[in-house]
Amino acid sequence: MLKPALNALLCLIFTIPLCQAQKTGSEDIVKDNLWFKNSVIYNLEIGVFKDSDGDGRGDFDGLVQKLDYLKTLGVDAIWLAPFQPSPGEDDGYDIADYYGIDRKFGNGGNFTEFMFQAKKRGIRVIMDLVINHTSDTHPWFQSARKDKNSKYRSWYIWSKELPKDWNKGMVFPGVQKGIWSFDSTAKEYYYHRFYDFQPDLNYNNPDVRQESQRVIGYWINQGIDGFRLDAVPFIIEVGKIGSENPELDFKLLKDMRTFAQWRKSDIVILGEANVEPKQSKFYFGENADGIHMMFNFFSNQHLFYALASGDLKPFVTAIKETQDIPKASQWANFLRNHDEIDLGRLTDKQREQVYKRMGPDTSMQLYDRGIRRRLAPMLGNRKQLELANSLLFSLPGAPVIRYGEEIGMGDDLSLKERLSVRTPMQWTNEKNAGFTTADTAFRPVINKGDYSYEKVNVAQQSRDPQSLLNWTTRIIKLRKECPEIGLGTYSLVESGSESILAIRYEYEGKSLVILHNFSSQPQKAVLSADKSSRLYDLMSEKGDVTAANGKFSLSMEGYGYKWFRVDHVIR
Ligand code: NOJ
Repeated sequence: MLKPALNALLCLIFTIPLCQAQKTGSEDIVKDNLWFKNSVIYNLEIGVFKDSDGDGRGDFDGLVQKLDYLKTLGVDAIWLAPFQPSPGEDDGYDIADYYGIDRKFGNGGNFTEFMFQAKKRGIRVIMDLVINHTSDTHPWFQSARKDKNSKYRSWYIWSKELPKDWNKGMVFPGVQKGIWSFDSTAKEYYYHRFYDFQPDLNYNNPDVRQESQRVIGYWINQGIDGFRLDAVPFIIEVGKIGSENPELDFKLLKDMRTFAQWRKSDIVILGEANVEPKQSKFYFGENADGIHMMFNFFSNQHLFYALASGDLKPFVTAIKETQDIPKASQWANFLRNHDEIDLGRLTDKQREQVYKRMGPDTSMQLYDRGIRRRLAPMLGNRKQLELANSLLFSLPGAPVIRYGEEIGMGDDLSLKERLSVRTPMQWTNEKNAGFTTADTAFRPVINKGDYSYEKVNVAQQSRDPQSLLNWTTRIIKLRKECPEIGLGTYSLVESGSESILAIRYEYEGKSLVILHNFSSQPQKAVLSADKSSRLYDLMSEKGDVTAANGKFSLSMEGYGYKWFRVDHVIR
């Protein structure tokens, strides 16, 4: 009985918005406050986006030049890949100073100007937060390895002996040899879940937890709106680290959220945690008090299986299994990201089918579980590309686009590991794709084949109404006219065809039905009309469907997709 009274008192003492944001799970908070539930997020790496000074590498000033492009595309939030000082051995995911800007991209002034220009256009900024590990060049690690008595020694994880399971649980199997390596200066083994130049921080140590919050506080103060939290399951490993079933400390995530939210009430933490659906509730927090959002890796891999095989059932099961999350939490959906497509949660047989259709050559595969290609070359046809993107924008959650996917960029398999999908953005058909005026871009631009910058670039596609870029812009606009998707409730409905996925959303008396045909062949859909009388096609004036005998019957072309509003076009 005391609790509500105490809450009310706290609301009076502290600011109202803070209280609203701290209250979780209520209908009102979902509707009014949670910007991230329905935002279109665009992921980019500064170094390969746009070079402003002709040194061959992208920078903050170059990104500013392209903010109007992103605004016009319909982007609500940019997710910036790591931009802090780093030797760059893992493309910035090896940080050497949490409180700086890598000089390669500009300085603090350039960063601040970028933040101002983004905010001016109403674009929010989410940054990667890579705090599971540091670079081995980080002064903390350097001090830790050199001096047993350094306060930083216990910021990392050491062992005098080589642990028995030193070569189990690598994140990059086939490339990484183990998770413990010998440091010849420290004369002990140190723990690293990722590459050996990325020693893990020790979250058993309260000082490390405090420092991670300091990093969060610092960047919030620089205007950051959210964090893409890297490697979440490994940050929260506590107890005996490195064992096959480590204990996970979810309180760490709750404390992180509480801290971040006290500093900025509408902050978002978007977690990278490729976990089983039944685990996700611990990450979101049963009372929506953990991380706010998570990438839906589970659905993603089953979606790729469905695209490769036409067999929808495992994908339908994945959607159902990931349905039950707190109202104030949200999934982030994606097709491609900066890493390989991780197919590790499929059965061997399912994975083989995806490989066969999308990455048949071993050079296209990675880490015994994934494919290192971009979407357009993988699917190889515009119709299925549209189908996949229509799904991205209509599945339950918020859509995350990888830069270049909106124009159907290709990959460069001659680059190592995941660099294949990190080539410079293709702006024009001029030298180096208009990415840089330098003779040589620091990472090669794709200049051969069907996906070369001469054939695939923004300038050309902007002028072609039928281009993928203009199609993507239209579907983002449509998504924004359909708040039901990010904010409403949803159910999978019987479609009358094994190949057609039908999903229905409800929100504030508005309702949507969205259909996708996973077969390359035309299919008939038959939906129960219940008490509805008409489906209004949101993409074509000619596509409306009227109920007859309590049913909606309609034809769908191979790989077709349709978005309908039930009974009213607009309400
Ligand atoms: C996950 C990131 O997505 C990946 O690119 C990176 O290599 C590892 N974490 C290590 O930070």
